Amino acid sequence: MGESKQVLIEKQKKKSKDEKTKAGEVEVFIMGKSYKVPAGLTIMKALEYAGYRFIRGCGCRAGFCGACSTVYRIEDEQKLGFDLACQKVVEDKMYLVQLPFVPASKTEYDIEKILPSDTILLEMYPEIARCVSCNTCTKSCPQDIETMKYIQMAIRGDIARCAELSFDCIQCGLCAMRCPADIKHYHLAQLARRLRGKYIDPKSKNLAKRLKEIDNRKYNDEIEKLIKITKKEIMELYKNRKIEADETESLGGD
Ligand code: SF4
Ligand code: SF4
Ligand code: FES
Repeated sequence: MGESKQVLIEKQKKKSKDEKTKAGEVEVFIMGKSYKVPAGLTIMKALEYAGYRFIRGCGCRAGFCGACSTVYRIEDEQKLGFDLACQKVVEDKMYLVQLPFVPASKTEYDIEKILPSDTILLEMYPEIARCVSCNTCTKSCPQDIETMKYIQMAIRGDIARCAELSFDCIQCGLCAMRCPADIKHYHLAQLARRLRGKYIDPKSKNLAKRLKEIDNRKYNDEIEKLIKITKKEIMELYKNRKIEADETESLGGD
């Protein structure tokens, strides 16, 4: 029996997609308009290649600031994709939408006046009790954080664990965008980390050391020097900077 018409169409599409990628270009749609861009570019670079200039929605360009949340869909697929524009590489027939920011509400508090009780996270963000454990937040997270798990820790009142699990959160808001319970994961997680830093484990070794150094004006000369040098010299310094051997040390402290 021959292949169905649908299968043949799919095969043809795949062939033309592969040929284009091989030829070094893919077609993306920005605001619905078609652009041919080189294959292998990140979404951010593809947008710039197409002539767009970022005024906002772009910060570190390195997957750390969370400013470049993007929603996309590949033609003929039903699934919506969520990722960071500075990290995700373009695919052929990708329809792109940049999110300028996620307008999630944030509870106001004075960190000096609240205490790390078992129920404080629930009091500040009562909607976490509505979590239906669908795990959509975890699946949306470009940082591969166990987002649902840190929400579960918050419900249990385990502030320290909630803070630790959410440590790599870059506040992009993609989890909150998709949560059926309207939970503001990243705002809650930030509160957990603040409570942890202030009350639960205030002796973080690196932080205490750095604060003391600042008090002793250790970096003043260096800052003065940086203010005076050129952009090129700053870039050179950055390229040759010393990178901490154990970047997680400041999380655990001791
Ligand atoms: S998306 Fe919302 S409801 Fe679903 S697991 Fe995450 S926090 Fe819970
Ligand atoms: S936990 Fe949410 S806000 Fe934080 S990085 Fe993951 S998706 Fe973004
Ligand atoms: S620009 Fe900072 S995470 Fe993409």
